[in-house]
Amino acid sequence: MELKDKLDKNKLPRHIAIIMDGNGRWAKERGHNRLYGHYNGVESVRNIVEGCAELGIEYLTLYAFSTENWERPKDEVTGLMELLVDTIRKEVPTLNKNNIRLYVIGDMQQLPESARKEMAAAIDETSANTGLNLIMALSYSSRWEIVNAVKEIARKVENKEIRFTDIDAALFTSHLCTSEFPDPELMIRTSGEYRISNFLLYQLAYSELYFTPTLWPDFRKENLYEAILDYQGRERRFGKTSDQVVS
Ligand code: IPE
Ligand code: IPE
Ligand code: MG
Repeated sequence: MELKDKLDKNKLPRHIAIIMDGNGRWAKERGHNRLYGHYNGVESVRNIVEGCAELGIEYLTLYAFSTENWERPKDEVTGLMELLVDTIRKEVPTLNKNNIRLYVIGDMQQLPESARKEMAAAIDETSANTGLNLIMALSYSSRWEIVNAVKEIARKVENKEIRFTDIDAALFTSHLCTSEFPDPELMIRTSGEYRISNFLLYQLAYSELYFTPTLWPDFRKENLYEAILDYQGRERRFGKTSDQVVS
């Protein structure tokens, strides 16, 4: 029996989030520069997006570039940004063919204006699609997002658009970049690192975390199925007791 057939189709996560890590090490192992790893990581993105669409996953968030990644050597930053923007633009026909809607979350002000325009065009051109929602976290960090949300709420209170007593979890969530999406049930990180690296800190509160030593350019649908199978074997208690959850 193939791994895919072992998946319980009634217990699939609605939202999967992935920290795509290990491109640099993958390239280094092969005696190449880091950008070679990023180029090869694109094939994994295609494969995983296709895999999620085939399974009927509703939301896939991919961490592609953090606000901290701007501090990397200039050559890598420029090369990686060009690759990301170029790939997204070129993939639009495929996204449309597969009914995939693109979103971008992150600090777009840090992107060069041309890149911003290309992103906006790609988002617009896929906006009528109703299948998989593909969310690219680009120039994203959770602390940046949370601080922004707090500022926006404070501004509204100051302008008397809302009252201090209106602030609750729902209002806060509605000011995050992810306000349109449910929280991820499953978060996957590749490359054997056991950390969150400023990714969806608020939204991952009750997500199941899955870590694999596989480096991102080697990650394929089979690895995704393995992660989902592992997820399906877990008991999600949300603070309750096991007995309460089972009954
Ligand atoms: C992930 O791979 C891609 C980005 C963070 C942009 P890395 O570039 O972090 O690769 P490693 O972790 O150095 O191997
Ligand atoms: C996290 O990977 C960011 C992305 C995958 C885009 P990093 O490689 O930047 O994270 P650290 O530095 O190892 O925590
Ligand atoms: Mg890394």
